[in-house]
Amino acid sequence: MAIKTKQTKPPAVKADPLLLREQPPILMGMRNAAQQFRFIDLFCGIGGFRIAFERAGGKCVFSSDWDKYSQITYEANFGEKPHGDIHTVAVADIPGHEILCGGFPCQPFSIAGVSKKLSLGRKHGFDDEKQGNLFFEIAKILEHHRPAAFVLENVKNLRGHDQGRTFQIIYNTLTEILGYTVYFKVIDACKVVPQHRERIFLVGFRDWRPFEFPEFPAAGPKLSSILDPNPPEKYTLTDHLWEYLQNYAKKHKAAGNGFGFGLVTGNDIARTLSARYHKDGSEILISQGSAKNPRRLTPRECAKLMGYPADYRIPVSDTQAYRQFGNSVVVPVVERIARSVVDILKLPLGHRPDLVLLANDKSRAATDGAVHIPVNYLKPGKKKKS
Ligand SMILES: C[S@@+](CC[C@H](N)C(=O)[O-])C[C@H]1O[C@@H](n2cnc3c(N)ncnc32)[C@H](O)[C@@H]1O
Repeated sequence: MAIKTKQTKPPAVKADPLLLREQPPILMGMRNAAQQFRFIDLFCGIGGFRIAFERAGGKCVFSSDWDKYSQITYEANFGEKPHGDIHTVAVADIPGHEILCGGFPCQPFSIAGVSKKLSLGRKHGFDDEKQGNLFFEIAKILEHHRPAAFVLENVKNLRGHDQGRTFQIIYNTLTEILGYTVYFKVIDACKVVPQHRERIFLVGFRDWRPFEFPEFPAAGPKLSSILDPNPPEKYTLTDHLWEYLQNYAKKHKAAGNGFGFGLVTGNDIARTLSARYHKDGSEILISQGSAKNPRRLTPRECAKLMGYPADYRIPVSDTQAYRQFGNSVVVPVVERIARSVVDILKLPLGHRPDLVLLANDKSRAATDGAVHIPVNYLKPGKKKKS
């Protein structure tokens, strides 16, 4: 499967002295605790994935995002400016890594023949008709570097996008063409932050692994846990804007649809923070009692709503900050996934937790007198020999 190399000269990737040495297979049979696994942070925004994977023990060796304001925030927090447009980076210049991470923008695939071509098993070429689609930039990197695992994030609607075609192409490319075992799940962040935010996560393994998404607490925190008791006055809505939002909501209610503002108190859970929150803040308005207009969240409150640490630096304007947090992942959600992925990669290949259970059952059977039904353990997708 040949991928044409880029004709444009890519920006130089800073050489990391650690990477000049031959790297041991860090996760599979990690030799000592000081060794870190390497990950890359694609479409990195302001580094939500990076915080999560660093907490799980990783070292980021490459990041990319072309948004100049996100680059400012990223650099202020991680000390390095992400590379720009991913289309201008040659895959061979991206350092080797064990885990690829990315919350890529959801785009339709423009060529009608793509899924047909995939289903017919014809030779693919990520560099022809799919050129330009950001998912295929990820696919090219996976094909070239063959990392042990990847974690991708997207909007919940990815599955229904373009009548399911977008997801089908992504899934088929990752599994049938690239040979990864892929698990996916929609997770609502409300179990770890006071916000409903449903996102789909795709976790893939180069070698078959019995992955399970992490468990989340049954109930999450309330908004009071992130609200500033003394927010600056400038976040209170003007009379004009508040009136406009109320009239707009009334109009839509009369027309029988649900557009409107989301007025909440500290006892509630917010709606999803969007990248357009800076426009009017209507999806999350904090009630200040009947004597005062409601207010927006402050950028710092948005950082908390997305699970960012208290010392996270916000060096950009409020408008940019709202955009950046509205586009971000919820850090503690990704952190739990990251830890689960790392835990499973640390196990020897072929490790079967179900077989360990069986062995435990057998030893118990010798003493507890219970009847234990034998189970045939087959890898998913493999047919039992007759
Ligand atoms: C949904 S956001 C990801 C946010 C990130 N996961 C975070 O936690 O902040 C998608 C990002 O992709 C970036 N992006 C879009 N097209 C790009 C391209 N061609 N090259 C690099 N970055 C791109 C956008 O600037 C945006 O920050």
